[in-house]
Amino acid sequence: MLQTTFLDYTYDNPLMNASGVHCMTVSELDELAASQAGAFITKSATLAERAGNPEPRYADVPLGSINSMGLPNLGVDYYLDYALAYQAKEPAPLFFSVAGTSVEENLALLAKIQHSEFTGITELNLSCPNVPGKPQVAYDFPLTEEILTKVFQFFTKPLGVKLPPYFDMAHFDQMAAILNQFPLAYVNCINSIGNGLYVDPQTDTVVIRPKEGFGGIGGEYVKPTALANVRAFYTRLKPEIKVIGTGGILTGQDAYEHLLCGATMLQIGTQLQKEGPDIFQRICQELETIMEAKGYTTIADFQGKLKTVD
Ligand code: SIN
Repeated sequence: MLQTTFLDYTYDNPLMNASGVHCMTVSELDELAASQAGAFITKSATLAERAGNPEPRYADVPLGSINSMGLPNLGVDYYLDYALAYQAKEPAPLFFSVAGTSVEENLALLAKIQHSEFTGITELNLSCPNVPGKPQVAYDFPLTEEILTKVFQFFTKPLGVKLPPYFDMAHFDQMAAILNQFPLAYVNCINSIGNGLYVDPQTDTVVIRPKEGFGGIGGEYVKPTALANVRAFYTRLKPEIKVIGTGGILTGQDAYEHLLCGATMLQIGTQLQKEGPDIFQRICQELETIMEAKGYTTIADFQGKLKTVD
């Protein structure tokens, strides 16, 4: 019932982890592979291993989470080794996330993937908001266009981009016009809402150490923004560019709404962090129950078919 074709492969269901959650080490990745997730993605890799920001750098808060991780990861070679071993035994294409902290590093990461035996899907994270001193690329439209122009001069494997949320119709239009120029496989909407602040009411302090407490917000707080971004790009991008919906998926109803707005695959971050990989089975069951109640037998019956008020 939940089978989802993405590029040329049909996954059992559209659910995945969001990059950054439960995907740092081989043992976490293996747990995702063994879970009911239809697909999964690796932690955003840089060329060299990074320790990331000082702890505490992630906090669960009442309606979601706040984090300023600073791209901790074990380096691109670690994840590439995992990916090559995985694809030798499994047919389902793996998603591989990269996030350079400069244009040059992004190009070097993608060149490495291009020249490797990797046959899966690459996600270029243009929206990492947590490296102190660096604005995120995807809020700089000329820089986004410049990077994608350079990337597609040599990169021929399936490529998607992870985007931050946008909040203005003009920005949806401008970003979509840029993205539509390129042979992208997908866009992933959204990364966390950047630079929120949470105050602990008992102690009057922030809850994470880096950046004086500022960090990306995820979870229930972000669902309406995520749905708006999924819908805005689904209705503006050429049909070859699919949309992955990420943000505020806690239940089957949340998953259903992302699909209704036009998402093809769905990623879960904060709630996976809170609940662990058993969440995938729960959300699949809840989504199937909703589809049965509405008389749908496949996701295609309702995907993208959000109604508006006349
Ligand atoms: C981080 O590692 O700081 C988060 C990465 C991201 O939000 O893209």
